[in-house]
Amino acid sequence: MKIAFVGKGGSGKTTLSSLFIRHLATTGVPVVAIDADINQHLGAALGLEEEQAAALPAMGDHLRLIKDYLRGTNPRIASAETMIKTTPPGEGSRLLRLNEDNPVYDACAHPVELDGGTVRLMVTGPFTDADLGVACYHSKTGAVELFLNHLVDGRDEYVVVDMTAGSDSFASGLFTRFDITFFVAEPTRKGVSVYRQYKQYARDFGVVLRVVGNKVQGQDDLDFLRAEVGDDLLVTVGHSDWVRAMEKGRPPRFELLEDANRRALQLLQVTADATYELRDWHRYTQQMVHFHLKNAASWGNERTGVDLAAQIDPGFVLGEDVAAPA
Ligand SMILES: Nc1ncnc2c1ncn2[C@@H]1O[C@H](COP(=O)(O)OP(=O)(O)OP(=O)(O)O)[C@@H](O)[C@H]1O
Ligand SMILES: [Mg+2]
Repeated sequence: MKIAFVGKGGSGKTTLSSLFIRHLATTGVPVVAIDADINQHLGAALGLEEEQAAALPAMGDHLRLIKDYLRGTNPRIASAETMIKTTPPGEGSRLLRLNEDNPVYDACAHPVELDGGTVRLMVTGPFTDADLGVACYHSKTGAVELFLNHLVDGRDEYVVVDMTAGSDSFASGLFTRFDITFFVAEPTRKGVSVYRQYKQYARDFGVVLRVVGNKVQGQDDLDFLRAEVGDDLLVTVGHSDWVRAMEKGRPPRFELLEDANRRALQLLQVTADATYELRDWHRYTQQMVHFHLKNAASWGNERTGVDLAAQIDPGFVLGEDVAAPA
């Protein structure tokens, strides 16, 4: 299951992603956690020391390896240089599983031990000004998009991405790559207006979007969110002393998380799981092609000097039953 946490800066994306990842870990399922946020804090929120978090290998630094591995023997993709973030898989491409060993994990994933289990953490690497808002060849989130476009994940295995709601994700198809997107919103006008913008982009692509209210104190906050986002509001989370203790570098055992917050995390999982039935790999593949053609025309063809539309394998549909090439 592919799950994104998005929202405006400071809303609590990293906090809620990390709590959800910790929750999943206690259930023993395979989890890949990805930090694709402008502010790279997921490692710290999962309990890494500052130096450990700073030393994590960055996906953005291994784009070449990722591209070379994923293109495999796909004859339509001549080189890593002509593979852009939206280049879709086709016959001969290598696909990724959540729970396997592969060179991408070897290079980019760091095991993080949590109460109950170990998750794989991957980070895009810190963003620079050049990364923001542009459909760029070197885009940091491009590595995440390539990863998701080559991933065949099934039930009961999870990739959780901590991400911004910014224009970076709309420049490509990244925002359409998830079974469900949890939009973290504080009960403020700003938080809600970013949500409306996101919803508008998402509508045309069938993105499943649910709002998670955060830092919600009392009925007035709840009423505000309900009035503003209606039925999209899934659940709300209040101030957590557990989170505050963790922020001080003294994380209590996860089982000590407040009951209401634990129930909220369970609801997130049940809600995510229910989207499995909505999956449509044909549509998923078509959307990759759509965004690839768009990126090819707007900058990719010019940048690479080749016709990137020719990379599309018309007979290929990604799916759990696609045989993996050796
Ligand atoms: N439910 C909560 N209870 C207590 N503290 C919280 C809660 N949610 C968020 N916080 C605190 O609010 C701050 C911002 O949260 P967080 O870093 O998760 O937001 P973010 O959306 O990831 O921000 P950024 O855009 O900077 O990445 C953090 O200090 C975090 O500990
Ligand atoms: Mg964050």
